[in-house]
Amino acid sequence: MKKTVPQFVEAKQKKEKLTMVTAYDYSIAKLVDNSNIDSILVGDSLGMVMLGYENTLQVTMKDMIHHTKAVVKGAKNTMVIADMPFMSYHVSIEKAVENAGRLIKETNATAVKLEGGIEMADTIKAIVKAQIPVVAHIGLTPQSVNIFGGFKVQGKNIDAAKKLIEDAKAVEKAGAYAVVLECVPEKLAKIITEELEIPTIGIGAGNVCDGQVLVYQDMLNMFSGFKPKFVKMYADIGKDIENAFNRYVEEVKTEVFPAKEHTFAISDDVIEKLY
Ligand code: KIV
Ligand code: NA
Repeated sequence: MKKTVPQFVEAKQKKEKLTMVTAYDYSIAKLVDNSNIDSILVGDSLGMVMLGYENTLQVTMKDMIHHTKAVVKGAKNTMVIADMPFMSYHVSIEKAVENAGRLIKETNATAVKLEGGIEMADTIKAIVKAQIPVVAHIGLTPQSVNIFGGFKVQGKNIDAAKKLIEDAKAVEKAGAYAVVLECVPEKLAKIITEELEIPTIGIGAGNVCDGQVLVYQDMLNMFSGFKPKFVKMYADIGKDIENAFNRYVEEVKTEVFPAKEHTFAISDDVIEKLY
């Protein structure tokens, strides 16, 4: 059954772990929908895994709407959360509310996600005031890659650790109903998880979080680029796809494919008249 936003928050009180994976199109969304996964994130990671960009910065509102629409159609019984792309919520709070509204109105997703802590609190508050549920995202926020100087674990020194705890509290206070903790040391993620009423969804933040999220291409080994330390491979679909393509080539060359059952018949009378 589809979890609602309040049920998502209640899961933490019930100590029921939450699960989330990304999806970017209709057919994968249907597979997720058929599984027991609670929620789908249409991540701006789509820029990297679907569009081949080196980071998420070039992803547009148009990209997000295009992919989220397809996901929502396939995810009849799963909560869909759409990432707000870089620069769609940074210019002004008004623009942020407008873009969050577009993401929901044009796709029928349930919620939006945006990156940032204390500095995004007022933005989160305004979007929630417009009746749009918000998931926050702190720690390694990939849209800050050029400020960070790379994809690095966050919160390792005392000042950074304190800031991260403050970020988590600020987004909760602003009205976010969940917060993604990306690449946060496990013991720090534990403190944050204990401090908050809303669920923490970890990626590279240990099993202490209230839930977990992974990019599906990472967990299925379908993305041959960079493989982060926090990824576990649950199936080698990438290898299966390559093997299937090579078997197809082999069978085409040896005329094993297409076989009789893949072809269409015509009566011999018609064929005779053609000669
Ligand atoms: O874009 C994305 O896939 C994400 C997850 C990694 C949390 O933001
Ligand atoms: Na993202």
